[in-house]
Amino acid sequence: MTDDLPLGGQEASICSFSLSDDQLSFQKSAPLCLAKDIDDAYVRKLNPAIPVPVLKPDNLVEKAKEFKKAFTGHVLYAVKCNPDKILLQAMYKGGVRRFDVASISEVRLVKGLFPQAKTYFMHPIKAPEAIREAYVNHGVRAFVLDYADELDKILHETNAAPDLELFVRLAIPKDNAGGDVATDFSSKFGAKPDHAAELLRLCRPYCKKLGLSFHVGTQCHDPAVYSKAVAHAAKVIEESGVSVDVLDVGGGFPAELETAHPVPPVTQFTQAIAHAVQTHKLDKLELLCEVGRGLVACAGSLIVRVEGRKDDLLYLNDGTYGGLFEAGGSIGLPYPTHLIRREERTFEGSIKPFRFAGPTCDSVDMMKGPFMLPADVQVGDWIRIDQLGAYGEVSRTDFNGFGSVQKIIIQKDSISRKERQAAEA
Ligand SMILES: Cc1ncc(COP(=O)(O)O)c(C=O)c1O
Repeated sequence: MTDDLPLGGQEASICSFSLSDDQLSFQKSAPLCLAKDIDDAYVRKLNPAIPVPVLKPDNLVEKAKEFKKAFTGHVLYAVKCNPDKILLQAMYKGGVRRFDVASISEVRLVKGLFPQAKTYFMHPIKAPEAIREAYVNHGVRAFVLDYADELDKILHETNAAPDLELFVRLAIPKDNAGGDVATDFSSKFGAKPDHAAELLRLCRPYCKKLGLSFHVGTQCHDPAVYSKAVAHAAKVIEESGVSVDVLDVGGGFPAELETAHPVPPVTQFTQAIAHAVQTHKLDKLELLCEVGRGLVACAGSLIVRVEGRKDDLLYLNDGTYGGLFEAGGSIGLPYPTHLIRREERTFEGSIKPFRFAGPTCDSVDMMKGPFMLPADVQVGDWIRIDQLGAYGEVSRTDFNGFGSVQKIIIQKDSISRKERQAAEA
């Protein structure tokens, strides 16, 4: 691990404006591993012409410990959010031993890294081959469903194994969230209350453990949304008339995005859940949560370059087809930003709201923000966008030929070089 800039004798490989073949081949350039955080001067010297995702696994180790301490049940990490091996290792280091997986590739990835970890296959509609391989080859026992045909599929593919843990995914009514989430998670998946109660009754004879799960929607700002969802789940359990062993309160825990609208600390969410569980007499049930964003957002940033400016619209070298998927479209997250001027300039002006446009020719590749930046942003400056450890790099494509990145990993000594090499293998 080195603190030195990777320029050495061949100054041009990263800082040149003419991109090398390595930079142009998608995700091919090796990550730079640094032992301390990078500052503006470092970025100026590095002079990157392509986007620079910066991973901070050490942040994650601390976050995982904090989350585990605050939550009264078991914390699962939702791997889809960021499956980078370095971050999975950090998660493990932080004490997370259970993983929410959504595909057979994620099952293989987690089981390959941590054979002892417990994986929960939480995609409600799975390929039959994926169920079979997960059960037979990887020891997965926990599966979610939200309609009866999926139960038939799971029973068929596992030969109705006696050790199944079945979860019924409950849809949370829209008025429960009160619009206070970035994306509603109960439109595509989830059974309505009567149907969920019926599914619980249907599953009970076929499983060793029976669970009820929900997801309030991602980037939820209000702890009361969880309290109402737990109350909703309690009603369904009562209506089902069967004994339920596990309550899974899903993900949705928010990342800190806008300083103007701070989110409550994680303890307010976990306390609201613990209180609701007590109030509705569900405290004998095993309690799980499946956290994505709330754990991993803090572990990633992205440094982009400004290629053009028209008033408040900044044209960047990365966008919604790259590492900024959730900044675009209907999600439109206003990530926190920091300007890195190409040369140091004195500035006494104000901070202003900006919009971003990505590098592709697609007109939907735009991000409304508002992204708050000093008014003197110039072409050639860089912008560091924070809280991008979740749903950032994982959605990157090479659409229009813009997929190349130069990844930087900042890792002190919390994970040994040996572990890192194993993670990168
Ligand atoms: C089933 C399930 N659980 C958990 C998560 C993680 O959600 P979040 O990132 O909001 O914590 C997701 C995200 O897609 C999900 O689909």
